[in-house]
Amino acid sequence: MSSPSPEWPGFAEKAEVAPDGVLSGRRIVLGIESSCDETAVALVADDRTIIAQAIASQDAEHAPYGGVVPEIAARAHVEVLAPMVRRVLADGGMTLADVDAIAATAGPGLIGGVMVGLVTAKALALAGDKPLLAINHLEGHALSPRLADADLAFPYLLLLASGGHCQILEVRGVGNYRRLATTIDDALGEAFDKTAKILGLGYPGGPAVERLAREGDPYGVDLPRPLKGSKEPHFSFAGLKSAVLRANDSGLHKPADLAASFQQAAMDCVIDRTSRALERAQGMTALVVAGGVAANASLRDALEALAVKHGLEFAAPPMKLCTDNAAMIAWAGQERLGAGLVEPGGDPLSIAARPRWPLDPEAEAVRGAGVKA
Ligand code: KG4
Ligand code: ZN
Repeated sequence: MSSPSPEWPGFAEKAEVAPDGVLSGRRIVLGIESSCDETAVALVADDRTIIAQAIASQDAEHAPYGGVVPEIAARAHVEVLAPMVRRVLADGGMTLADVDAIAATAGPGLIGGVMVGLVTAKALALAGDKPLLAINHLEGHALSPRLADADLAFPYLLLLASGGHCQILEVRGVGNYRRLATTIDDALGEAFDKTAKILGLGYPGGPAVERLAREGDPYGVDLPRPLKGSKEPHFSFAGLKSAVLRANDSGLHKPADLAASFQQAAMDCVIDRTSRALERAQGMTALVVAGGVAANASLRDALEALAVKHGLEFAAPPMKLCTDNAAMIAWAGQERLGAGLVEPGGDPLSIAARPRWPLDPEAEAVRGAGVKA
């Protein structure tokens, strides 16, 4: 799907247009995502059609540094975003006049990037006299499974696992979330990325670790399972990463065994923690996974088995909706409009970008978790 972009040299590009084109009479939301290292724009209708979308990944820009460099990310969003809006509108056979609302990620995320997306959305809202919808990026992830699956009903238990987030949420309804767990240090994707860095596998590390793990012994290296068995369903991965570093430095282990043993330890933690969260969740219809790490086949398989054990449906949106994208932001806008949660005229144009923005404002602070959204 990825190919070098002629319009945005240096960026991988993915673009698509719905085969049925545009029907009239639908509510159309234009979505913008720029909170991390993906610049994305999408047009999504209230009947769940993704009319057109584009994603430019900055992987190549950040690869030399082994992680996302915020300043580079913000500059790259500036270069790409406005022409991408024009291009997606053209792909959808539309102009700004055909759009009913402009949705953009307003946080949480890398603040420079969030500001680029939000200011672009404000400019479009102002120029087109359209309502602005300031979207919580985590709400985009949380509702993305319903864009893919019209039958997925509330409430469901969501494991949101990406490079920046690792949370378990009861998704009770639009704008109604109860956070059952978060990480007290690293996110799961971050642990994959750091392990990849230790093993010299490049960035982003998750897919590379998963590939190498297939050739290794998942029990070949003795690694810790942080917080396994603990009462609260929170996560911790920093100690696991440090143990991988020490084991690698010892020179006693094959990289494939390290990758496989890391992945096994991480999965054991995820399943133990999610089981604990399931004990606390009330009346869930399904177990759902979203975020970039949902690409991992062992994670999907293990969660599906857990869902079956608990008599729950299992859902994982298609990968293009799991990793950061603008369709989920536009869809969250549609859901908020549909649920009557948007003030007439939309959110104020003075609204600020937020580096932190918890989905569940009631969630208790967890010791050590202050750095993660
Ligand atoms: O959702 P996403 O695209 O961006 C963030 O919001 O962070 O997630 C990217 C994260 C990275 O940490 C990446 O290493 C991880 O998802 N990831 C994977 C796999 N594919 C992507 N982790 C494990 N196994 C994979 N196959
Ligand atoms: Zn994300």
